[in-house]
Amino acid sequence: MPGDPGSSIDFCFDGRPMTGRVGQSVAIALWDAGIRTLRRSAVDGGPRGMFCAIGICQECVVEIGDVRRPACTTLVRAGMDVRSILDLPSGRAR
Ligand code: FES
Repeated sequence: MPGDPGSSIDFCFDGRPMTGRVGQSVAIALWDAGIRTLRRSAVDGGPRGMFCAIGICQECVVEIGDVRRPACTTLVRAGMDVRSILDLPSGRAR
């Protein structure tokens, strides 16, 4: 793992600069920053975020680069470009 455990690393969420710590998941780094909504429901547009925190529920899925991944099981890395997902009721993502 690059960097000392617990040392600061910079990444982006929806274009906003964030700071995480080596060894944290993306979800925990965002939680520490006060961010709870990671995506919107495809059914009703309601906010979704970390729920199980162990990679089961998929409520925390975000886009990292061009790939959708659970934020709770993805380690935050320096320079990551993380984006929330707005799943429209039609099934189209923004
Ligand atoms: S919070 Fe359940 S998969 Fe991430």
